[in-house]
Amino acid sequence: MCGIVAYVGAEKAGPILFDTLKRLEYRGYDSAGIAMRSNGDLLVLKSAGRISELEKAYLTQGSPGDCMGIGHTRWATHGRPSDDNAHPHTSGDIAIVHNGIIENYLELRERLFDLGYRFSSETDSEVLAHLINHHFRGDLAEAVSEAISEVEGSYALAVLSSRSSAVVCARKDSPLVIGVGLGCNYVASDVPALLPYTREVVRLRDGELAIIHRGQLEIKDLSGRPVAYLMEHIDWDVDAAEKGGYSHFMLKEIHEQPRALQETMAGRISEIGGDVMIDLGFSDDEVRKIQRVCIVACGTSYHAGLLARYLFLRAAGLPVDVEVASEFQHQQMRPETLLVAISQSGETADTLQALKKASPCGIRCIAITNVVGSTVTNLVDGTIYTRCGPEIGVAATKTFTSQLAALILLGIRLGRARGHISPDKARKMLVEFSRLPGFVQEVLDEREKIREIAEQYAGSSTYFFIGRDYLYPIALEGALKMKEIAYIPAEGYAGGELKHGPLALITDGTPVVALATCGKKIQSNIKEVRARGAELIAIVERGDPNIGKVASTVIELPPAMPILSAVLCTVTLQLLSYYTALKLGREIDKPRNLAKSVTVE
Ligand code: F6R
Repeated sequence: MCGIVAYVGAEKAGPILFDTLKRLEYRGYDSAGIAMRSNGDLLVLKSAGRISELEKAYLTQGSPGDCMGIGHTRWATHGRPSDDNAHPHTSGDIAIVHNGIIENYLELRERLFDLGYRFSSETDSEVLAHLINHHFRGDLAEAVSEAISEVEGSYALAVLSSRSSAVVCARKDSPLVIGVGLGCNYVASDVPALLPYTREVVRLRDGELAIIHRGQLEIKDLSGRPVAYLMEHIDWDVDAAEKGGYSHFMLKEIHEQPRALQETMAGRISEIGGDVMIDLGFSDDEVRKIQRVCIVACGTSYHAGLLARYLFLRAAGLPVDVEVASEFQHQQMRPETLLVAISQSGETADTLQALKKASPCGIRCIAITNVVGSTVTNLVDGTIYTRCGPEIGVAATKTFTSQLAALILLGIRLGRARGHISPDKARKMLVEFSRLPGFVQEVLDEREKIREIAEQYAGSSTYFFIGRDYLYPIALEGALKMKEIAYIPAEGYAGGELKHGPLALITDGTPVVALATCGKKIQSNIKEVRARGAELIAIVERGDPNIGKVASTVIELPPAMPILSAVLCTVTLQLLSYYTALKLGREIDKPRNLAKSVTVE
């Protein structure tokens, strides 16, 4: 996730671009850049690091530039944070800023290279600059329209040229808002950045081009026909706006999951070939020699690892050990072991330490992380980025479900390389998998019902979560979320384990959340707790005829493959803990005693 901005007006563009960019810093902050018209030419300033550093350099140069420009704050997905990879990217006298992922960029890059274009970054975005330049014959909007018709993927795009008096913007599956001022117009990825300047906004839609002049705004479709647009008046306050209208970052990030999952999958699935395209950093011959997988991680990431224990055995025939990183003891691992480190931040000291302990064993290592260039990526052969944008709320939500998606991709990738699953079976799984963002949206649409349930049980002194198979790690994760943000003591158990001790704690009125979307065996565990007076909150597949009869409360989810159902149950439990914490007045985004990135052992 990145932030893009633009300005066309009567004032100097630089200060406005910096100010609007700073308001988008929550979308990413590893590099920044601006491009402006300056005495009939283009002037580009960009660098790795924070926006404030770049702004200092701009001021030192005497605040150059005219009254028209574009800007970008980056959260790296393709290519590490560096000066070259920072946006804007240029081609001739064209500069672009881009938020999104160009899925066919390798193919476009090769073609443009053959046409004589040279690349100075590792990003997917740079192809857009060259492609627009390639199509530019005097009309910038036409060139943008032709270029994007060749692009697969997602984009919010702003384009500046010293030969055009308008900035041209386009979008597909990435947000873009135009702020309409008096004699000037603004662009930003999100409304908050615009509020100090204007409250009149137009939300660009997929398949539309915005041609933004100083005192005029034209919106066209891709074939150049004018499109009527709706101007919206924003009456939120700035604080609410930074969270996109949500009351907390956690709630915003929970709602970002359909998009985050799409980003994790983008460009990695071949439904036709029945395969997953991920570079592991070593050959498929080596993949075939792997006999065991060891996963190291902490907290929520550890729960993602536990889910992979079931998945990798089924999809790739590989037994998996999952270790809490701080307890990692496998210093004598056999060379045919694959070590997978899962860490959303990529900086968790316990996880880094476990990787260092394993390195003398000469084994292959993979990281799954959300942060490009984080320390974990320097300790492994290959990295799978989850690409879900910065997570501000301390409790991991979208980073967890994206880790699950990355593990599903990895499981299928390993299974296909080892010949454990057929292309046909993989294809079926992938087709179903690509429906996951839509299923997650259906769960989010049920939030009011989940809120009512959360409020009903918010006064409970303890909570239990039970699940079996793929749903056991999710029960652990549900309990962790409830402890972490609502401060209610909560236990997660494998359904079959209750009778071996914890059942003694179930008394009249104890809320027990049963994850019952798949598998029949959980039903006997449900009866065990009901017989002890528990209040049963059952999470079931839509249309389940049985559990409604024994449960106090039922939450229905869309029918999906068991592994996908685990993701849907996760989202339900995130909402349950969020609304419980809200009812109890907790400090949800910054729970007591916790930190987003734990860099001490
Ligand atoms: C819980 C949570 C933590 C982290 C853990 C590991 O919501 O966020 O349990 O999962 O501290 O962090 P990463 O994934 O950054 O290694």
